[in-house]
Amino acid sequence: MELAAVTDRVRDVPWMSPEQGAEIYRHIREAGPDHVLELGTANGASAAYMAAALEENGKGHVVTFDRSTAGFEPEPLLRDLGLDRWVTFIVRDDSSYNWYLKELVEENSDAAGNCEPIFDFCYLDGAHNWTIDGLAVVLVEKLLKPGSWLLLDDLEWSYSSSPSGASLPFPMSKSELRAPHVRAVFDLIVRQHPSFTQFRVQDANWGWAAKSPNAPRRYDVTSTRSAAGLVAMAGWKLARIASSRVRRGKAAPDAEAKARSPAG
Ligand SMILES: C[S@@+](CC[C@H](N)C(=O)[O-])C[C@H]1O[C@@H](n2cnc3c(N)ncnc32)[C@H](O)[C@@H]1O
Repeated sequence: MELAAVTDRVRDVPWMSPEQGAEIYRHIREAGPDHVLELGTANGASAAYMAAALEENGKGHVVTFDRSTAGFEPEPLLRDLGLDRWVTFIVRDDSSYNWYLKELVEENSDAAGNCEPIFDFCYLDGAHNWTIDGLAVVLVEKLLKPGSWLLLDDLEWSYSSSPSGASLPFPMSKSELRAPHVRAVFDLIVRQHPSFTQFRVQDANWGWAAKSPNAPRRYDVTSTRSAAGLVAMAGWKLARIASSRVRRGKAAPDAEAKARSPAG
């Protein structure tokens, strides 16, 4: 499916802006992955952009994970777009994607302790929490093939920057509430991991990391938009979040946490 067609349908679905959708679509078109992993499905907007690009490629599949307690129903969107055959939804009633990742690492490991990597791209857009996503990136690294990319959303989001305060997975200190957790995961775990060597921070919000263990380390900061464009994007996210809350009525705890997130 062409980018314009998926954007037309998904533009009002939180939490991926049309600009981000275009970027992730472009990445999938250029990289041509066979196996994509998404952690954090929500309404299926990002899954839709990725599935549309896979359809254009004529190959590949997205596995996307969320909890049933989040209360989202992304399947109708993908069916409506005719893209459902490109996506597998994994929905669990309890626990976290970290337990699912643990199962995948277990299934793909031999007795000597080698884990066979299975994914060509991972989009991590879930808990935005140091303790949860710090483990997630370590497990994801084992499952990513050399040459593939990991993308982290919401680098600068913090609990205390949420307008009405996000719900906490457990009690947190003041510094934990103030700090951007995904930024810490990116800077202190991903960027210091020996397997990841190519890094790009895009539009102050996305952290890209390539698993290229033998390449020299490289770090770039890029912007696809002007300062005015970044402000417009932030406005877009807040508007989508507000309209989502009205449409959904009472949100489930995970959804509610994200709905309060300005980083969206
Ligand atoms: C920001 S939303 C995902 C948005 C989606 N990627 C998009 O752009 O359309 C984050 C999702 O992550 C899920 N999530 C958060 N923490 C999680 C965890 N520990 N395990 C599983 N899912 C989690 C939430 O339920 C929520 O649906």
